Amino acid sequence: MKKVLKVGVIALVLGFIVLQFFPPDRTNPPINDAETLEASTQVPADVAAILNRSCSDCHSHKTAYPWYSNVSPASWFLVDHIENGRSHLNFSVWNTYDKKKKSHKMEEIQEQVEGGMMPLGSYLWIHRNAVLSESGKPNYKFSHLKARSVFTHPEIKIGVPK
Ligand code: HEC
Repeated sequence: MKKVLKVGVIALVLGFIVLQFFPPDRTNPPINDAETLEASTQVPADVAAILNRSCSDCHSHKTAYPWYSNVSPASWFLVDHIENGRSHLNFSVWNTYDKKKKSHKMEEIQEQVEGGMMPLGSYLWIHRNAVLSESGKPNYKFSHLKARSVFTHPEIKIGVPK
């Protein structure tokens, strides 16, 4: 029994080491300025700050990869989140969306933020500064009110063509 355990542990350790030789692709795709959110939309500074701080890592080509993105299998989960996030919503290619898609995504953003689904909980767990609140403290009720005003205020509605 002891021997089986020992072999098992060695196999796990070896497996972990071998995994490190297969890192996922962590290069950000290039950004074409004409395709970005900013190209078609006047983004107020405070909204841009929120998007950059809380959403860009998964919804743009401006991902900042943390140190643990160097370690498999964490790296695989991370890259999967990013690819999945980008495929649903990507501010770096926002201007390639047609009008209908832009307005649909706007609604989705509002829904996700108001519902507290975004930013992803597992992300906030580590990235405390991405919590949507002014004070930086996780105050969800306040966050939702704030998010509502930020994302729905007519003058600063993102996704409105210039
Ligand atoms: C840690 C990565 C991550 C962060 C940070 C993040 N998202 Fe997401 N987002 C995802 C993933 C992954 C999906 C795909 C759906 C799912 O798995 O829930 C998604 C889906 C969405 C969708 C749904 C799009 C659609 O049409 O289906 C919206 C809208 C959205 N996110 C907005 C935001 C906003 C706004 C922020 C910042 C306030 C944000 N997200 C932050 C990963 C992230």
